[in-house]
Amino acid sequence: MSVDELERLVSRAQLLSLVDAAKFKLALWFGAVSSGKTVISLWAFLLAVRVAPKTGIIVIVGRTMTTVYQNIFVLFQNTSIFGTVIASQIVYTPGASSARILGREVMVIGAHNAEAVGRIQGSTVALAYVDEAALMPEPFWNMLVSRLRVDGARLLATMNPASRNHWIRKNWIVPGAAKNLISFHFTMRDNPNLPADYPRGWRGAGCRRRASAPRTTASPASARARRSGSTASPASTTPAGPRRPAPAPAAAASPSRPRSGSSAATAGTWSRPPSLGGNGGPR
Ligand SMILES: Nc1ncnc2c1ncn2[C@@H]1O[C@H](COP(=O)(O)OP(=O)(O)OP(=O)(O)O)[C@@H](O)[C@H]1O
Ligand SMILES: [Mg+2]
Repeated sequence: MSVDELERLVSRAQLLSLVDAAKFKLALWFGAVSSGKTVISLWAFLLAVRVAPKTGIIVIVGRTMTTVYQNIFVLFQNTSIFGTVIASQIVYTPGASSARILGREVMVIGAHNAEAVGRIQGSTVALAYVDEAALMPEPFWNMLVSRLRVDGARLLATMNPASRNHWIRKNWIVPGAAKNLISFHFTMRDNPNLPADYPRGWRGAGCRRRASAPRTTASPASARARRSGSTASPASTTPAGPRRPAPAPAAAASPSRPRSGSSAATAGTWSRPPSLGGNGGPR
């Protein structure tokens, strides 16, 4: 498969985030609605399930059990994204407190108030996936991170942008490296599969936010390359031309829109939007 063909299935930003996320204990995807954060973070989660330490539990956390079902398990059943083999190995009954994913038991938690802390207190967590992290009560998040106390334990999370004063920005995204956290800022350009007629207002909002951000830091690999005077970063060497419309993946059933051309410069970066902030160092 050529890189062009691959990019019609997975955007460069999605792909690079998948690679970079694996180097950190905590990984956080944030940005515009429908920008492809959940899809790629769930791929990262599936890869992590395969190697998660056996000595701890695996948890999926959302604001409520209903949002976990809608945002995660419904998506997992999309066979054009995850394939029939993987989809068939994800078994969940809506509302249930556990699921089976790739043969491992996974605890499902709705954490809309601080009482949810009781669900994980005392546990050792090997792997956690958090949907809409900015909506979690801070004590719950802190407790969850403190439960990652086995070698190789990881936490993956998504969220939409939060305010400058939000605890997750101040205490986690900005310190980034110091907390062993990498964050990825996505815009709608990073979704390889949005229909051409997707509401422009939404798309515009995402792009403006990104456009006004200082584009500082590329992926660790490209940053290293720049420091050493090399131009070897995949993100920086691929030309930023308009993309051909992608053939619709079977179940996604909508033609991908041509891309604006700016993504090559931004895809895969973990830049620092003005309202949020930096991120990490190696795991
Ligand atoms: N790599 C991909 N391959 C196929 N479809 C994709 C891909 N990435 C995203 N999509 C499609 O775009 C939709 C939106 O993506 P996703 O749910 O990941 O967005 P999001 O950034 O999490 O949005 P929100 O902020 O609303 O939670 C998905 O339901 C899926 O149909
Ligand atoms: Mg999402």
